[in-house]
Amino acid sequence: MVFVIQGTQRGDEGKGKITDYIAQKMDIVCRFQGGNNAGHSIVVNGNRFALSSLPSGIISSNITNIIANGCVVNPDALIKEISTLKEKGINKFNLLISNKAHIIMPYHIDLDGAYEVLLGNESIGTTKKGIGPCYMDKASRIGIRFCDLLEPEYLKKRLTTALIIKNKELEMCNKPTYKFEDLYSHLLELAKILKPHIVDTSIVLNEAINDKKQILFEGAQGTMLCLENGTYPFVTSSSPIASSVPLNAGISPKNIDKVIGIVKAYTTRVGEGPFVTELHDKVADNIRELGHEYGVVTHRPRRVGYLDLVVVKQACRLGGIDYLAMMLVDVLTGIKSLKICVSYELDGKIIDYVPSTISEVTRCKPIYKDFCGRDEDISNINNFYNLPKECQNYLNFIEEYLKTPIAFVSVGPEREKTIIKKDIF
Ligand code: IMP
Repeated sequence: MVFVIQGTQRGDEGKGKITDYIAQKMDIVCRFQGGNNAGHSIVVNGNRFALSSLPSGIISSNITNIIANGCVVNPDALIKEISTLKEKGINKFNLLISNKAHIIMPYHIDLDGAYEVLLGNESIGTTKKGIGPCYMDKASRIGIRFCDLLEPEYLKKRLTTALIIKNKELEMCNKPTYKFEDLYSHLLELAKILKPHIVDTSIVLNEAINDKKQILFEGAQGTMLCLENGTYPFVTSSSPIASSVPLNAGISPKNIDKVIGIVKAYTTRVGEGPFVTELHDKVADNIRELGHEYGVVTHRPRRVGYLDLVVVKQACRLGGIDYLAMMLVDVLTGIKSLKICVSYELDGKIIDYVPSTISEVTRCKPIYKDFCGRDEDISNINNFYNLPKECQNYLNFIEEYLKTPIAFVSVGPEREKTIIKKDIF
């Protein structure tokens, strides 16, 4: 079976936990887009692992972890992430990096920061990890790929070409330029370390599909951050929607069996951009503290709001989501009255989709349905029907509204704090 995990909101939905949970039954876990702008926290036996570039299956030693062609990778950050895992006792893992994946170069990081400064009030609030500039070079055909690391003479040519353009751009942004020799020798060093991991991962994935292996494609970020379908320009530079898996991993669209949409029980956003259900009150502060709503990558406090089902409905439509995983449900403990946004009012009209322009989204007013909150601690409950009635009502409404079954309810960060409502296997 081939599964896809898709974030249905704006990232940080808790995908890492469900990926890690499902990964235990998988042969392969594969990242197919994005880079170390993503931050996944996984808690195993009380140990918290913060992953950025590595697939979430990396903690389980018997899983093959793939970084596919649609990803962009900062090799220095990747090597650092691997050593942090080793320090925490994770020594045995199997990591494959697509030879077609693009390398985030130091000048991408400099330019990411420089563009944000130039944009001033119009800045995106990127993670400044060089993601956008790396994808820009991919599209401009001056990117450097992992396969180039394996051919030093060709690498020379590629780097020379890239630097002609990149150094000019850096000069325009008043940033220091790069010397060819420095970058080239560093890339050769990286090549020595990473060579055993670099392969054509499309071939590996297709063989695994033919052998009927269990494969999980792990999306980073969320649907509203999708370059194609999100709230552009406040988006990332790749597509985290299930439909981007085939292209970004080199498999056929016919091979995807099930898509699991990850939904946080409320909404958060990091970075700039409109946020229809955003709260600026005590409820937001409580949720932020209880849910540890601070970025794994940038440590920025996340903006917080009520659950917006207009957004999640759009994600279900775009991704063909088969099952939902409801995350961080325990965080809503103690909130007396809850609301779920069920539609928007835009210029006097009621709509149930996210409009395409930022000015329209900014004018949208949320229409809410009210729900009773609850005080009981639910973190030790392991059966859906033992959850307080108020909590069941909240979740049942989501299921009915989205016409999609809930398979998982997460009531705490640990693997075992996961209620299985429906078996997806
Ligand atoms: P970039 O991906 O660093 O270019 O950032 C573009 C936008 O996506 C910014 O608003 C970021 O805060 C947001 N973003 C990127 N990665 C994540 C993520 O993993 N979770 C939540 N937001 C993200």
